[in-house]
Formats: sequence, C-alpha cells, structure tokens
Amino acid sequence: MEHVLTIENVRNTINKWKKEGYSIGYVPTMGFLHDGHASLIDQARKNNDKVIVSIFVNPIQFGENEDLSTYPRDINSDKKLCESHGVDLIFTPSPEEMYQDKKAFVDIVDLSSTLCGIRRPIHFKGVCTVVAKFFNIIQPTNAYFGEKDAQQLAIIRKMVFDLNFPVNIIGVPIVREQDGLAKSSRNTYLSTEERKAATILYKSIQKGKESITPGCSADSIINTMTEIIQSEPLAKIDYISVVDANTMQPVEEINAPVLVAMAVYIGTTRLIDNFSYDPN
Ligand code: PAJ
Repeated sequence: MEHVLTIENVRNTINKWKKEGYSIGYVPTMGFLHDGHASLIDQARKNNDKVIVSIFVNPIQFGENEDLSTYPRDINSDKKLCESHGVDLIFTPSPEEMYQDKKAFVDIVDLSSTLCGIRRPIHFKGVCTVVAKFFNIIQPTNAYFGEKDAQQLAIIRKMVFDLNFPVNIIGVPIVREQDGLAKSSRNTYLSTEERKAATILYKSIQKGKESITPGCSADSIINTMTEIIQSEPLAKIDYISVVDANTMQPVEEINAPVLVAMAVYIGTTRLIDNFSYDPN
C-alpha cells in the first residue's frame, strides 16, 4: 500500500493508473477508522481496479466550539485497517497542503440549512468544499459515502449533479454495534454509563420504523420517537425530523420517500442516526 502526503504525488500515481485504464474507487474519511469505514472500503474494493482512501480531519467543517482539536486520531491503526482491506493508496495531506489562502468554497443551499445544518451552519459548506477538492485531485470513477450521514450523502449527490462532477456516488448502509448503536469515531467520547444510554437512539429508530405507514403524519412519528428518547435521563434531543429524501425539507405527511433523522446529545457527545422510508 502506497502512503502519499502531497497532491503532486497523488496525481503522479493517478496519472499512471488512468493511462492503464484502471477504474478508481475513492473513500473520503477523517480517520480513526472503524467497521463503518471498512464497509465503504470493501464496497470500493469489490467494484474498482484501484482503491484510494483519504484521511484528513478537515478544519473548515468544524464550527468554533466543535471538537477539531480533540477529534480522535490514530494513523498507525488506520494504516493497518486500510492495508488489511486491500487499499492501494492512502492520502493523508496536511491542512497546509489542502488550504493555503482559501477563497473558493462550494455551498449547496437549502439542503444544507435543515437538520444538522441548523446547529452546524458552516459544516456542509466545509464538507462540500473539501470533497470537491478531493474529487478534482483524485478524479475517482466511484466514490463511497455512508448512509449514517444521510444529509451529507444527499448534499454530495446534489453537488455532483449540479456541478457535473464525472463521478458515481454510491451510498453504503449504516454499520452498527451489536446493540444497535451506529458505529462512529465519536463513540469513543462516551463514558461507560453514557455508552449504555446511547442505545436509546437505535431503540427510537426501531420504534419509528415500526410505526411509520404510508400517508401517516410526520408529527406522529416524531412524537413516538421523542417519547422513547425522553425515557433516557442522559439523552437530550437536538432534533428529530422527517424530511423529503431528496430536498431535505420537512414534510407533514409521508407521501413520498423520506428520511427520518435525529441528533441526540448523550452527555456532551452529539450522536446522529436515521432511517429511510419509501411509502410507495
Ligand atoms: P467520517 O466521519 O470519517 O466518515 C467517512 C465516511 O464513513 C462517511 O461517508 C460516513 O458516512 C461513513 N461512515 C461513518 N460511520 C459509518 C457507519 N457506522 N456506517 C456506514 N458508514 C459510516 O464523513 C466524514 O468523515 C467527512 O465529513 C468527510 C466526508 C470525509 C469530509 O471531510
């Protein structure tokens, strides 16, 4: 496995691969890799000649009071995971390599202002900007994103469509712990007691899935799910919302494909989870 730190060196390798006609599968990450990331890598491995993983804790997608400086990092363990899943190249640029005097940004309006965009107003602009840069640097055939971050996936799809990036976006299902908690690098912030309490998110998701029916009201689902979360004293709801699967705008009735998404604080750690539902 090749480990590259500069844009110039990535481009050199990619130019060689393109000349050979190889397809390139790309998995963008912020590192501290777990089975969720591995499932994206495995999909990429199955369907492409070459697989690239980027590991970059992207400063411009973190708000002022967010966890940029404490975001967990472990490059040695990340390298091992990538190697054991057959990755051909990992790209770990420094912030200086990615951003000099940055003036250009990619902002996907409307889709970025609901759900996580309310509490994190600059987040998706930072995500889109870095992903657009990586797409231009790597020029992948296929790029893989987790359904765990469903709003991020919808926004990236819209960015690729609106800006005509020549890349296929592939969504990969959520990978969970045995007790249902969605795998996340941020789960390491939880104390033992909080880790137990965090299972309430999945219980609420399951109840939501059981309760949802074609034509039912969004409020009835939100209320059912809210009640479950509120039964856990360590949990505090940021939002539980039902939005149109494509536009990310709130709906009142379930008549078209929707995303049911939530963000919940367990102590000071903010966790997200979701499920999709198609009434047709
Ligand atoms: P990160 O949080 O490291 O996640 C990288 C990718 O792994 C994302 O597409 C995310 O949805 C996926 N992922 C994380 N946990 C998952 C799980 N339990 N099941 C399935 N997929 C999972 O998302 C980012 O980084 C950044 O915003 C990034 C896109 C790299 C831009 O900086």
